[in-house]
Amino acid sequence: MTEPSAAPPTDAPPNSPGAHGLENLLSEERRFPPSSEFAAQANATADAYAWANADRPGFWADQARDLLTWSTPFTQTLDWSDAPFARWFADGRLNAAYNAVDRHVEEGRGDRVALHFEGEGGDTRTLTYADLLREVSRAANAMTALGVRTGDRVAIYLPLIPEAVVTMLACARIGAPHSVVFGGFSAEALSSRILDAEAKLVVTADGGFRRGKPSALKPAVDEALAKGAPSVAHVLVVRRTGQPVEWTQGRDVWWHDAVEAASPEHTPVDVDAEHPLFILYTSGTTGKPKGIFHTTGGYLTQAAYTHLNVFDLKPETDVYWCTADVGWITGHTYVVYGPLLNGATQVIYEGTPDTPHRGRWWEIVQKYGVTILYTAPTAIRTCMKWGAEIPGKFDLSSLRVLGSVGEPINPEAWMWYRRVIGGDRTPVVDTWWQTETGAIMISPLPGVTAAKPGSAQVPLPGIAADVVDDDAQPVPNGGGGYLVLTEPWPSMLRGIWGDPERYKDTYWSRFAGLYFAGDGAKKDDDGDIWLLGRVDDVMNVSGHRLSTTEIESALVSHPWVAEAAVVGATDETTGQAVVAFVILRSDVVEGNAADAATVQETLRTHVAKEIGPIAKPRQILVVAELPKTRSGKIMRRLLRDVAENRQVGDSTTLADSSVMDLIAQGLATPVAASED
Ligand code: WT7
Repeated sequence: MTEPSAAPPTDAPPNSPGAHGLENLLSEERRFPPSSEFAAQANATADAYAWANADRPGFWADQARDLLTWSTPFTQTLDWSDAPFARWFADGRLNAAYNAVDRHVEEGRGDRVALHFEGEGGDTRTLTYADLLREVSRAANAMTALGVRTGDRVAIYLPLIPEAVVTMLACARIGAPHSVVFGGFSAEALSSRILDAEAKLVVTADGGFRRGKPSALKPAVDEALAKGAPSVAHVLVVRRTGQPVEWTQGRDVWWHDAVEAASPEHTPVDVDAEHPLFILYTSGTTGKPKGIFHTTGGYLTQAAYTHLNVFDLKPETDVYWCTADVGWITGHTYVVYGPLLNGATQVIYEGTPDTPHRGRWWEIVQKYGVTILYTAPTAIRTCMKWGAEIPGKFDLSSLRVLGSVGEPINPEAWMWYRRVIGGDRTPVVDTWWQTETGAIMISPLPGVTAAKPGSAQVPLPGIAADVVDDDAQPVPNGGGGYLVLTEPWPSMLRGIWGDPERYKDTYWSRFAGLYFAGDGAKKDDDGDIWLLGRVDDVMNVSGHRLSTTEIESALVSHPWVAEAAVVGATDETTGQAVVAFVILRSDVVEGNAADAATVQETLRTHVAKEIGPIAKPRQILVVAELPKTRSGKIMRRLLRDVAENRQVGDSTTLADSSVMDLIAQGLATPVAASED
């Protein structure tokens, strides 16, 4: 295991996904410079770095003017006088949906395909920019008729269907911040997000298709609202699967009644550059998810710039596909805003990669002639496991740029991605960023950077990042520590919804004046940055962010559980996997109320109900004690050693040193969780 030389805070998760070969990162010698043909046609050139370095705000102001259409041009670029609360382009006004849709139609690009939608069952829909304008305008009118006004929040709980994109843009069109909740989250999770944002409207569907079957969504909305949600006036329901739904008269409205009847003419509402565009909840180190909120002008500027330059997008000829769901930040920035601002043609796919067969993604690439593909390492590793013969059956020669996001990509998966999917021809860009950063921050530029498998390498032009030690000092090349961002950037979060103090505490108090990302990182001998995983109580499972504390809270809310500790154990496919250690209540143990298998299944189902199926522990181990320091802090490091079948490390700070022996004994007959 390679630890950064600056030790992470005591009891932090490992910041070295050792199983993926990152431990050899300082000896990675392979380099993949762009071909001369690629470099010659690339959007981004090497001089962008010097240009941006000479005048960082000026560089972003140029991008904001070039890439966006402003109804009132801005005269101020960055106001950092109230740091860490940033204001970018604050006296400018614009509308996000106008920029993403209308102007393409006004400028004669209305016939260009905006979305090629591929349903899981093989149903398809094509929407041009002109179609999108009509749909978004109708939805904006329908939402207005339902009482939604500029500034009101709208919760969106939909599958990945065109209506999800249309709804987000319709919200942006009337200046109503959207809060998209991933369809895999439970009613409980949906309820807390609706309450925190005080949403006025919820947009959902009867269901979506998942692994060949309809999977209901509306019941979760009904259940969430039944818990009480005084702010919600209406629920707008898209008919997708046709399954029966419960109906609350006066509250529930069918999309096809409200939207299809609405006028296709709508005037976008201009808002200030700092008007909130959306809230997106993400897991932090405490139990309560944080409502990260982004504003309009700065976010759109960096979304458009990064999408154009990191993927080298050529809007007339490229077919772009980002496999993320709109429930995550990747879907916000690289399915909705970035591509549409740039007038791209893109594919969206509702289903899973293996439905109805394991070649589905590659079949889609072949069918639409996808040229740019953006996905997560966990998907790449899953495809590796399924074997190169599967993609080998399809024509992938249209691909010219491949992107990776969400977690560290191990050099082996990077090489496979480039060789098997990219035909040894395509640049691969490993892009580091977060919900909070809004857009890509650290990444190679495909026509400029000699790529290094496994490293995100360098901050983009206009972005300043560093790796620092415990005393906030930059580490030398070859050293490790914490990733920080040293200058404000346009798409930075503007705060945590309703909780400015938590914003300051979480990101700006660890190191004075520096944004603390929560990731461990190293600089190699060339000064390139390698991301090593979280150093806080946040896990990354298949590129999805989960909080150990949140899952622990879910476990202890079950009547059988007295105490729980959760760790993220290294997993070959998903990066990390959730492993839980629980102490059962004595009456459950003494009464022999349940066998190990029942305990496992009951608690896994309970976590799925409390948070969502993505948070289900891979394994639940019943133990008699948990390892704690004298001050009562659970030593997750030791539990991780157990979960990863490693020799248990230094346990001298344990209050009771026999605890680890007890746990080890109890593990003699662990019960493996069933596959989902
Ligand atoms: C965390 C943010 C950004 C969209 C998806 C995740 C990890 C993200 C990389 C990468 C290594 C990465 C970090 C980060 N992460 N991209 N290229 N290399 N790690 O967004 O849910 O906000 O999670 O994902 O740990 O902090 P998110």
